Amino acid sequence: MHILITGAAGMLGAKLARSLVTDPPEGLSRLTLLDVAAPQPPVGAPVPIVASTLDVADPSAVAARIAKRPDVVFHLAAVVSGEAEADFDKGYAVNFDGTRALFDSIRALPDYRPRVVFASSIAVFGAPFPETIPEEFHLTPLTSYGTQKAMGELMLADYTRRGFLDGIGLRLPTICVRPGRPNKAASGFFSNIIREPLAGKEAVLPVEEDVRHWFASPRAAVGFLRHALAMDLEAIGPRRNLTLPGLSATVGEQIEALRRAAGDEAVARIRREPDPVIAGIVAGWATRFDAGRAEGLGFRAERTFDEIVAAHVEDELGGTVGARG
Ligand SMILES: NC(=O)c1ccc[n+]([C@@H]2O[C@H](COP(=O)([O-])OP(=O)(O)OC[C@H]3O[C@@H](n4cnc5c(N)ncnc54)[C@H](O)[C@@H]3O)[C@@H](O)[C@H]2O)c1
Repeated sequence: MHILITGAAGMLGAKLARSLVTDPPEGLSRLTLLDVAAPQPPVGAPVPIVASTLDVADPSAVAARIAKRPDVVFHLAAVVSGEAEADFDKGYAVNFDGTRALFDSIRALPDYRPRVVFASSIAVFGAPFPETIPEEFHLTPLTSYGTQKAMGELMLADYTRRGFLDGIGLRLPTICVRPGRPNKAASGFFSNIIREPLAGKEAVLPVEEDVRHWFASPRAAVGFLRHALAMDLEAIGPRRNLTLPGLSATVGEQIEALRRAAGDEAVARIRREPDPVIAGIVAGWATRFDAGRAEGLGFRAERTFDEIVAAHVEDELGGTVGARG
């Protein structure tokens, strides 16, 4: 089985590649890691790895990679929400045209129907929301990023229906705790207020503690992607895009989980600095979903924010909270 990952230099792509190398799925024979930024191949791979730059907005470059006929394509490459909103042309070129170029290069090959796992987002939904967003809620995104992901979902379902590929779209929750440096994404503070205090650093909280959102850990996200690799796609039926399970938590509940893991001194590193712009953006975001269909198909996420903090401490901090005491 030849697996190809686009966006392999990104947070989830790199974690997925490492997981496939350390715990290879049965039959893995080759791994192709592609990203506009050079991907780092994980060491110790039991199979040949090609790691190379690729711009998914370049149709002939995409077609050349797909000509190798990978059995599974994880399409994770994307311009994320803030940038897609700031740069309209780039967002459409990568997230929509790039996705279509990928799907069309698959369609162009005879006798070829790979599994395609597409990273979608809860940004395909837009306010006003009911308290819990049901499986059947309409796709009415309120950002260019969400619109591009929604169009990707529709193409995935149609190309699957037409028999060009065998697709599954995963509407990922907000992935928290995101490792690395703080970024400027409006959602960044959800991760910053856990990651930075655990590392002994200060973090800024721009919203009130009653703000609620929908989360899963990077570990759970890799689990979702691997489940999509292994599962029987026929079981999904024609609605190939799934809202994935997550955990609905308030910022206050996040902070209490941090306190239980690392004490009052860690919590004291959170500096309240209200930002009406961020508060306004976040107020339009979804807080809770019914993910019963994906759960019924075997997708699993954390049930408490303590589990999310523990996953971060184990996976990123070597299992110890260095900042404590
Ligand atoms: N992290 C989250 O909270 C979250 C939530 C919902 C959906 N998603 C989706 O999951 C996927 C992975 O997310 P992530 O957190 O790893 O994001 P990331 O930003 O860390 O990774 C995305 C990768 O795509 C690459 N990329 C951008 N433009 C490209 C192009 N033209 N050609 C090739 N590669 C290009 C980037 O270089 C980057 O390495 C994305 O599609 C994202 O939209 C993520």
